[in-house]
Amino acid sequence: MNAIKIFAPATVANLVCGFDIIGLALDYPKDEIYLYKSNNPGIRINKIYGPSLPKDPKKNSAFAALQLLLNKYEKLNKLKNNIGFEMELIKNIYPGSGIGSSAASSAGVVFGANILLGNPFNTIQLIRFAMEGERVASGSAHADNVAPAIMGGLTLIRSYDPLDITKLHSPNELWVSIIHPEIEIKTSDARKILKKNILMKDAIQQWGNIGALVAGLYQENYSLISRSLEDVIVEPIRSTLIPSFYELKVKCKEIGALGGGISGSGPSVFMLSKGNKIAKKVTKVMNDIYSTLKVGYNTYTSPINQKGLKWKKI
Ligand code: HSE
Repeated sequence: MNAIKIFAPATVANLVCGFDIIGLALDYPKDEIYLYKSNNPGIRINKIYGPSLPKDPKKNSAFAALQLLLNKYEKLNKLKNNIGFEMELIKNIYPGSGIGSSAASSAGVVFGANILLGNPFNTIQLIRFAMEGERVASGSAHADNVAPAIMGGLTLIRSYDPLDITKLHSPNELWVSIIHPEIEIKTSDARKILKKNILMKDAIQQWGNIGALVAGLYQENYSLISRSLEDVIVEPIRSTLIPSFYELKVKCKEIGALGGGISGSGPSVFMLSKGNKIAKKVTKVMNDIYSTLKVGYNTYTSPINQKGLKWKKI
């Protein structure tokens, strides 16, 4: 097999209290990636459909992640400039939206390349390659978008060094509503504004929430999930960058959302709900609030994507 099409999902990182450690995969939106293995060495991005993105290897996350995988593969197999890849990216996930656009590209290409090479790498290795794409896109090699993109469902990063990632139980009825305000927040900037030190009392509250969120997911205890969706460390700082953030939170919860917060580093805001019906109402509330503002936006309603990346032979 020399050609493959990959469907790479959007992801929500941080999951409110789980900064840099908890993320989930969505069914939509998703990118489509055509990847071809060739005997012509090197990596080529033939076309990017949708928003304009750099094709420069130093700035393109898909390129950077795939280059790392290819270098490692050639080294392991004592090859030099034997293999090449060509790709076309259909970007349905807007770069800078906060729902894992760069993660979808980098996770998608390394996942596809691994299949085309006969699966030489395991999941953790693929996540490491894809994290390099995140470093290129945002200056930080976080894994809370690429892990759920590759593994599906909800994932928890216990440790970055060594990389130790586990999949969490995700209740079937958990749905996600997202609003993507069309403003630009660079992840690198949104990281720079965070405090380097936190108070012990805030840390205690935060790890209480994280533990309870995980317990709530396993118990399918929606009330406990709802109470745990609280972030006392990152959200108070980053929320100032997002128009009507607290109005979104309050009104979505009034209509029945369990809770939510900033998706990744923003500007997207997400809400979790029990069931599709409430999730759709929540998305409508998001629409109603933003339709009164002078900011363009998109909304999505999606279940959790249990499988993550999907592919088919072409
Ligand atoms: N955990 C990362 C951050 C996700 O919040 O900076 C970026 O999408």
